[in-house]
Amino acid sequence: MINTAIIPVAGLGTRMLPATKAIPKEMLPIIDKPLIQYIVEECALAGITNIVLITHSSKNSIEDHFDVSFELESTLEKRVKRQLLAEVQSIVPENLSIMHIRQGKPLGLGHAILIGRKIVGNNPFAVVLPDVLINRFDCDLSSSNLFDMIHRYETTGHSQVMVEEIDLQLSESYGIVDLDSSKLAVGESEAITRIVEKPQPSKAPSNLAVVGRYVFSRSIWDMLEDTPLGLGDEIQLTDAIDKLLKHEMVEAYKIIGKSHDCGTKESYFLTNIEYILRSQRFGEEFSVKAEKLINEFST
Ligand code: G1P
Repeated sequence: MINTAIIPVAGLGTRMLPATKAIPKEMLPIIDKPLIQYIVEECALAGITNIVLITHSSKNSIEDHFDVSFELESTLEKRVKRQLLAEVQSIVPENLSIMHIRQGKPLGLGHAILIGRKIVGNNPFAVVLPDVLINRFDCDLSSSNLFDMIHRYETTGHSQVMVEEIDLQLSESYGIVDLDSSKLAVGESEAITRIVEKPQPSKAPSNLAVVGRYVFSRSIWDMLEDTPLGLGDEIQLTDAIDKLLKHEMVEAYKIIGKSHDCGTKESYFLTNIEYILRSQRFGEEFSVKAEKLINEFST
């Protein structure tokens, strides 16, 4: 049974500076909630009950966000702000525990995940990267890609890596997988034959990029222990996956819907706009105002 997800949040967010000088990038808002809250909600929907945050001394506000704020709650209660109080009290989904452990050295994603071994033990687990939002806007909220990946792992025993088709020119920003067949159907999984971290477009084995969701068998731990420094002098999770697939089957799961990258300024702006436009609360009014603004610029 997979009930634990590791979320690495130790990165310094240099791509989002100066906004992230004193605020963790995971605390930047999409509409009115920090990114990390969407990620935690996605995990809860997928049946995760334990979250392990791999963190850094500059990220205390993430811990604070998921802690009870007695002062705030009693103020909202006194002012009879019931709706806000309910929103604040539901930040941590029911039955979910959040644990924190620090990554002392900036040695990359693979190293960050390996630190989680102390808490997860020799068990299978999920990894969820916090700068990618996955939302099936068109679907019932009770189903999710991560839920499907966990289900697939539990029925087959094969580790799962979420992939999405990208424009090949962007291959240097992603792990890229190689498969036996040329066409992987949406919502389906297939064996990965090779995986490469951030190849040049001319060297990319396909246009299927890893988009921040993984479900691993416990064998990944030994692969990570054994992975030397790779690209950028960091221990790359991708390199450990490439080792794993030589021992046992690792499958690429093709995302239903699309991912929303929040790791660069431009993609973060676009994600925010899309989420606002799709929001029941703000969408209609915002789209009228935004359209007016766009017309002002185009005339
Ligand atoms: C990480 C992984 C990469 C993956 C990407 C997006 O890169 O190393 O394989 O494709 O996340 O999920 P980063 O964006 O941290 O540089």
